[in-house]
Order: sequence, then C-alpha cells, then structure tokens
Amino acid sequence: MNDPFDDFVEQLQDEIDQETLQTFGEVAYQRWKNPLYMQVIPTPDGHARETGSCGDSIEIYLKLENGRVCDAGFQTDGCGPSAVCGSYAAQMAIGKTPLEIAEVKGEDILAELGGLPSEHEHCAYLAVAALQSAVEDYMSRRPKDF
Ligand code: FES
Repeated sequence: MNDPFDDFVEQLQDEIDQETLQTFGEVAYQRWKNPLYMQVIPTPDGHARETGSCGDSIEIYLKLENGRVCDAGFQTDGCGPSAVCGSYAAQMAIGKTPLEIAEVKGEDILAELGGLPSEHEHCAYLAVAALQSAVEDYMSRRPKDF
C-alpha cells in the first residue's frame, strides 16, 4: 500500500510540473528540470554576481583557454526562470571569445526559450548582465597590452 503522504507529495509535484510547463513552455520547463551548467568553478578566470531589482542574484563563472570560454557555470538564489536563464547564459558563453560574448543579449536567451511571461523577462537580462560582468572581470585580470 502506498504511503498517503508520499502520494500527496507526488500529486503536488505533478501539479507544480504541469503549471510550470503551461506557464513557461516546454523548453524552459525541460531546462528547469535539468539546469545544465549549475556549478561553481573553483578558480574561475572570470566571475561576477549581479542582483536584480527583484532582489534575486545570478552568479556566472568562466574558465578560458586560448582566449575562448572552455567551461562556464552559474548559481542563483532566485526564481525558477533565473536558473533557466543562468543555465542558457553559461551555455551561450562556451566556445566564445570575450568579444563574441559582448554580443550576447537578453533577447537571445528569450529567443531560445520561445519567450517568457513578461514579469520574468528580466531574468534573462539579469543572466546576461552577470555574464557580461564576468567577462569584464576576466578582462580586468589580464595583463594590460602596451
Ligand atoms: Fe528576479 Fe527571476 S531573476 S524574478
């Protein structure tokens, strides 16, 4: 016989999953369930934390090799979409040079996701702001050219 509490928890999780899927769409839902690149890189070449007006923060970690991002990670204390957007920001950084990353915009993440509800669009801009700041941190650590 199933434990009634386990059944209750399972049903609740199903309801949350269905609501999330309907509100944010398939792409964001799948990434929320499997937030790729959610990792701290212990000795990053570039790192930044940005806090939005909502109070949520997203951190981005970058590791570079031969002038290109070879590994990236993110952390967030924020909403589900902030994890989804942080994950996409890290993914979009992989393989790019700092100059190429400078071209990444919040709209690019929103396009990948097929959009977000308007009250969560800022999550994408916050993730990109953290990414751009991590690149600035990387640039500031490099020896200056003369
Ligand atoms: Fe603030 Fe998503 S990052 S609500």
